[in-house]
Amino acid sequence: MQAIAVRKGEEQPRLVELPKPEVEPGEALVRTLRVGVDGTDHEVLSGGHGGFPEGEEQLVLGHEAVGVVESAPTESSLSRGDVVVPTVRRPPEGVTNDYFERKEPDMAPPGQYVERGIDGGHGFMAEYFTSPVEYLVPIPDNLAEIGFLVEPISITEKALELAYASRSSFDWTPTRALVLGNGSLGLLTLAMLDGYEEVYCLGRRDRPDPSIDIIEKLGATYIDSRETPVSEIPHAYEPMDLVYEATGYAKHAFESIEALAPNGVAALLGVPARGWRFEVAGSDLHREFVLNNKALVGSVNSGHEHFEAAIDTLSALDESFLDALVTGVYDLDSFGTAFETDDRTIKTAIEFHSL
Ligand code: NAP
Ligand code: BGC
Ligand code: ZN
Repeated sequence: MQAIAVRKGEEQPRLVELPKPEVEPGEALVRTLRVGVDGTDHEVLSGGHGGFPEGEEQLVLGHEAVGVVESAPTESSLSRGDVVVPTVRRPPEGVTNDYFERKEPDMAPPGQYVERGIDGGHGFMAEYFTSPVEYLVPIPDNLAEIGFLVEPISITEKALELAYASRSSFDWTPTRALVLGNGSLGLLTLAMLDGYEEVYCLGRRDRPDPSIDIIEKLGATYIDSRETPVSEIPHAYEPMDLVYEATGYAKHAFESIEALAPNGVAALLGVPARGWRFEVAGSDLHREFVLNNKALVGSVNSGHEHFEAAIDTLSALDESFLDALVTGVYDLDSFGTAFETDDRTIKTAIEFHSL
């Protein structure tokens, strides 16, 4: 079968030929429909994040998948023909640990998991993949075409849950939200922010730009970070109750503290490359944090219940938004286009089998 992988020492994905995977006890065989591409895939390609499976020379890419069950154990809840989305984390070398036992693998620290397509485990960019049934989440057939968005939406389901939980001990009624980043995660999150009076999204693009069009169609205000740095936003606009960082730009973690209103919370999602050192006004930020009851929460990956929530969220998203967000779905002959990063590309996917 054909698969898309990155080899050690290379930064471009390649089409490779692999044997169709053998099903182990307790596993389902899945015929892959589509696999999305996100910023993390680019970080994996550039060597900035993730790693190869132990002792192997290549990593099959892809962690945002949707497929159809070809075969499943008879005693399982899945049947041939079910449309499923796989979760990303697995126990290292198949040896379970407390996080997996508690069904909270998303809370495991590095070393206690592998991430398929990212860190130490082969991903889903192949014509077929296998997975223990417990890591496959069934989705309605009518979401098959866009099912590759369930995983990224689940990331925001978890991050917002953590952020809101941190404000749950008092009466908190957020009215202003700011999303940092106009990539696929930022825009999906913007579309998910219900109930806010004002929503803003930060980028660094000139108009005309398709991501700015999406921001404005969603009723949000575009902020250009080249004109208004994050720390200036409360003065140029208003202080924010919620900040959601999806740029991977390390200064934003600290500038978010300044952008927050009293009692506000910022969720940090980006995974910046290591090694950038810069100065921050440490004691001022510390005071600001404490005297205004502010919170910063980091959030990574997502659990089964976040995938379930993401399915409902995806079903409710506006079709015209999704059409604008997904700028291309490419077959294996033109898979390279899915990894291009020009200004017209927002969210892409690769189709391994047609629906
Ligand atoms: P992406 O497509 O690369 O989007 C990042 C966006 O941020 C880009 O549109 C980029 O603008 C913008 N940006 C970067 N620096 C900026 C700055 N200084 N000012 C304004 N805009 C800036 O990536 P993504 O898939 O949306 O993911 C976003 C981040 O979240 C990545 O770091 C990714 O690794 C991380 N992530 C984390 C999780 C998790 O579980 N924690 C899950 C998914 C993704 P340009 O395109 O104009 O450069
Ligand atoms: C994936 C997550 C993963 C994170 C860190 C994200 O792009 O969607 O599942 O945990 O990267 O590797
Ligand atoms: Zn991702």
